[in-house]
Parts: sequence; C-alpha cells; structure tokens
Amino acid sequence: MSLTLHIGQPGFETFLAKEAGACREKGPGWALSDNASTDLCFSHLSLLEPVEFKAKTGKELACGLAGYFRETSKGVRYDAPWPLCFESAGMEGMTQRRRTVEAEFLEETSHLSRVMRLAEPGRPALGASQGLFVYLPDFDRAFACRQAWAGGQRRMADDAQAPSRSYLKVEEAYLVLGEAPQPGQTVADLGAAPGGWSYSAARRGAKVLAVDNGPLKGGAEGHPDISHCKEDAFKFSPSSAVDWLFCDLLEDPRRTLGLLSHWVKKGWCRMLVANLKFGRNDPLPLLRQALSPREELGSRCSFLKARHLYHDREEITLVGRI
Ligand SMILES: C[S@@+](CC[C@H](N)C(=O)[O-])C[C@H]1O[C@@H](n2cnc3c(N)ncnc32)[C@H](O)[C@@H]1O
Repeated sequence: MSLTLHIGQPGFETFLAKEAGACREKGPGWALSDNASTDLCFSHLSLLEPVEFKAKTGKELACGLAGYFRETSKGVRYDAPWPLCFESAGMEGMTQRRRTVEAEFLEETSHLSRVMRLAEPGRPALGASQGLFVYLPDFDRAFACRQAWAGGQRRMADDAQAPSRSYLKVEEAYLVLGEAPQPGQTVADLGAAPGGWSYSAARRGAKVLAVDNGPLKGGAEGHPDISHCKEDAFKFSPSSAVDWLFCDLLEDPRRTLGLLSHWVKKGWCRMLVANLKFGRNDPLPLLRQALSPREELGSRCSFLKARHLYHDREEITLVGRI
C-alpha cells in the first residue's frame, strides 16, 4: 500500500479519484489514494507518501510542517534550487489560509537561510522532483511530502491579440508535450475558429492552415502565416503531410478520435494536440480508449499523453508524437 495525494482541478475530483483508484478520501480538487500511480490525466500534482498534520491554528500547522522539514532535511545536501510548493483545496477561504500557513512556515524556517534562499516557490516542472510539497485540504489539516510528480499543467499568461481563451490551452499543451511549433513548420488546425490555436502557432513562425467554416478573429484574422480553409474537417485532407495536427472540434469526442486515428494512419502529421470534449459524460472510458495501445492512435504514437489541463473545462487534451 502506497499513499498518494492527487491534486487536480476543483469540481473534477470524482474523475480524479476514479482514475487514481483505491480512493480513501476526496475533497474539492483532491483525492487521497492507496495507489502509487502517477502520470494521470486528471492529476496536476501527485504528492508521494504524504504525511498528515492536524492542528487548530495556522501557526500550529506551520510549526508541524517546519519540524517535518527540519527532520527530513537531515543528511540532505542543498546545493541547487529546489521546489517549495504550497497548495490548497478549492474551498472559500482556503487561499488565505494557505498564504498564512506558508508565511508562518517561512518565519519558522528563517534560521535555515542558506537552504531557504535556494527554495523556488510554486509548482515544480513536469515529472518527478524532490523538494517540499504541502497541501491543505481543509483549515485544520495539511499533507506534506518530499517527493512529487507533476503533470505539466499550469496557468498560462494571456495575449491581448489572441482571439479566444482556447489559446491558453494549446500554450499549456506544449508544456506537456515538451515542444512547440517552430519557425517554418507546418500546422493543420481543424476547428480553428476564431483562431486561438492558429494564432499561437503563427506567432511562433509556423505556417498554418486553419480549417473551419467560422470566421477567424483578433490576431488570427488576416495573419500572413494563416490560410483560412472553409471546409468540413472530416472531409479535409492536406496536400502534403504537416508537422502538426491541431484539432479542437465541437464534436462527439469519439468521432474526433476517429479523425485523429485517420490522420496518423495516413501519416499526415508528426505531432498532435487535440481536445476531446466529454461534456456531461464520464470521461474515463474515453480516456482509456484514447490512450489504448491496441487502438490506432495509441499503437502509432511513440509518445501520447492525456491531460485535464488547468485551462480545460469538461474536456481533456491529448498531445502526441508519432
Ligand atoms: C472550440 S471551437 C475552436 C476554438 C479554436 N481552437 C480557437 O483556439 O479559437 C470549435 C470549432 O470547431 C468548429 N467545428 C465543429 N465541427 C466542425 C467540422 N466538422 N469542421 C470544421 N470545423 C468544425 C466550430 O465551427 C468551432 O469554430
């Protein structure tokens, strides 16, 4: 039995708990599981083997956490920056509680000035990392651990020229994939309007074919590197293979999966970013199908991940490399 605390988006904890399995307890934006699984779609950060603290006041919680930090720092060499991450459940008042506990913790550990100067506040980068990770599921509780696994989700900065909020999703998806469109690369953007994803690629110097009957707007409208093709995405075929397939269709997600499979089978793209809108349905069967190595997409991709992004709502985003 290996305890893991998964942190995701508040409101999606039922899916998070179901995906993690062996759920012991859950709350707004978190699920405590007796499984050691990482790299989940709905988890943004997984705290491995967390220790639980309970106390009536923020000061007492901070003292407990500082003691834990000192104890688990014995024999540890701090000669490089390390992540110091404090997060809290999606309940009213918890952000303030977290800030208070974090401030008290920093006060309690201020005598460790050399070590604390190397602390980098905020979520760690994608993958496994060592540091101090603290999560407050409630006012009188905290979990802390020294090892965590991050899925790569994070809040992205908006761009005044971006024609839609969808822009933020594709920008976030690049972090999970580990690469973004480069100057001179080609992109086919299926379901492109009003053009957030097309604009994101064009801004990086890629040549984009934006496929959608709807109009392009904002920074995508009239952009010299974006050609607008008013066609049905399911009937469209590229004149030659492209580097990137973007797909963000308001369609049945299984139909979208079929379209992605068709593209990879034909060899029409090398990388893909696609959004699957699950709406009010349980996304777990869809998720399993999307990633299954027995399905066309899973069998042809050398790298394929699904994430419920920070900027996703009732949808998941797939990133893949053929
Ligand atoms: C969520 S929006 C895409 C937003 C876009 N990625 C952005 O960044 O602005 C979905 C788009 O899918 C388009 N769409 C839905 N079905 C389509 C189809 N069969 N062919 C082409 N476009 C389609 C809609 O017209 C709509 O503009």
